[in-house]
Amino acid sequence: MTLPGHISIWKSSRSQETWLQPPKFDTMTSAQIRQSFLDFFREKQHTIVPSSSLLPDAPNLLFTNAGMNQFVPIFLGQQKPPWKPARVADTQKCIRAGGKHNDLEDVGLDTYHHTFFEMLGNWSFGDYFKREAIEWAWELLVERWKFPPQRLYATVYKPGPGEPSEFDREAHDHWAHLFREADLDPAVHVLNGGKADNFWMMGDTGPCGPCSEVHVDLTPDGDTRGELVNKEDPRCIEIWNLVFIQFTANPDGSFTPLPQRHVDTGMGFERVTAIIQGTNNFVDFSGTISNYETDIFRPIFNELEKLSGKRYASMLPTVGRLCETPAADTPALQNQNTQEQVDIAFRVIADHIRALSFAIADGIVPSNEGRGYVLRRILRRAFSYGRTLGFHEAFFFKLVDVVARTVGDIFPELRAKQKPSCWRNFRVKRILRW
Ligand code: GLY
Repeated sequence: MTLPGHISIWKSSRSQETWLQPPKFDTMTSAQIRQSFLDFFREKQHTIVPSSSLLPDAPNLLFTNAGMNQFVPIFLGQQKPPWKPARVADTQKCIRAGGKHNDLEDVGLDTYHHTFFEMLGNWSFGDYFKREAIEWAWELLVERWKFPPQRLYATVYKPGPGEPSEFDREAHDHWAHLFREADLDPAVHVLNGGKADNFWMMGDTGPCGPCSEVHVDLTPDGDTRGELVNKEDPRCIEIWNLVFIQFTANPDGSFTPLPQRHVDTGMGFERVTAIIQGTNNFVDFSGTISNYETDIFRPIFNELEKLSGKRYASMLPTVGRLCETPAADTPALQNQNTQEQVDIAFRVIADHIRALSFAIADGIVPSNEGRGYVLRRILRRAFSYGRTLGFHEAFFFKLVDVVARTVGDIFPELRAKQKPSCWRNFRVKRILRW
C-alpha cells in the first residue's frame, strides 16, 4: 500500500497539475504541508503509517473520529506496538458527524468545521511524553513553518470541581519555558482549561487524558492576549491538540490509570493549510482566514461552478456564522445575502462530497440506520443546499471525480472505488439520486 509520507501531488503528472491550480501566492501547497509534517516526524524517528479506514474497529464509534482510534488496543495494553522506537505519525481520514464529536450543523456556515477532514498526528506508545511532544510541536510550528510565536496560545488542563485528575503542571512548565525563551509572557500565552476543553475523550469510554491545545490568533493585529481562545470565534482557532493518554474511561463514569503513559496528537490539516496559504506565509492577516480558501477546496469549487453556472465569491463571515448575519432590509443587502447563501451552499456541498466519497470508498454507504443514516443525512443536506445552486436533479456524483483526482495519490482507495462498476456495486448511483 502506498504510504502517505512518500507522496507529493505536485510531482505527479502534467494533467493533474492543470487540475490542481497552485495557490496564487508563494506558499506551500497542501500536499507539501502534509509532506512536511510527515517528514518532520520521520526525522524524529517516527514510522509513517497509513490512515486507517473510516469504519472504526471500536464498537462505540460511528466513524473514525481521530487519529488515535486505530491505536486503542495499544493504549489499553492489549497489543504491543510493533515499531522501534514506539513512535508513529500519519494523516488520518476522520468524519465528525454524529456521536461525541459532531460538527455537522456548523459545516458551511463557518470557515473551519467539516464533516470530513484529515488529522495529522504523532504518537508515542509508552515512549516520549510531554516534554518532547510540546517541544516538537513548537519546533515544527515556530522554527520550521514560521508561525509567529506572539500569535500562539497554549492551553493546559486544570480540573474544575469534581473533574478528574489534577492541574497539568508539567505541560504548563514546558510551554512557559518556550514562550519565555521567545520573549513572550507565559502568563498571557499559557491558559488553563477544564474538562470540556482540556481533557480529551474519544467517546464516552476508552483511552483519554489531559490535553494541551495550540490556538492561533488570526486577527489583523494579533494582539488579543488570549481573550478569544475557546470562544468559538473564527479569529482564533485551535490547530493542534496534544493529548497525554493516561486513563481509560469506564462505562460507570470512573477513570482508571493506564499502565503506561502515551502521547496522541491531532493537527487540523485543513486549518493549518488555511492559515499558511490564507496569510501568504504569515505576512498578511488582513483577510478572513478560511479552510475553504485553499487548494484543498478550490478544485471542487471550480467543478461546481462549471456544473451550476454560479460563482463562488468567497463571502465569509468575519465573526460567527453567516446565518447569524442580521436580516436583509435593503436591495443591496438582499443581493449580498443571496450571494452569501450561494457561498454557503458551495461550502456545504464541497465538504459533504468529500465525506460521502471517502466513506463510500471505505465501504460505508447511506442507509436507514446507524452510520449509514448519518451519511444519508449528510447527503440530504447536500441536496437541499444544491437547490440554492439551481440543481433539481442528480448532480452530487459528478463531483466524485474531482475529489478522487485531488487526493487520490494520498488515498488510493478513492481512485480504486471511483470506477463506475464499483459505484454500481454499492448501488450508490441510485442512492445519490434520493
Ligand atoms: N486525539 C486528539 C484529537 O482528536 O484532538
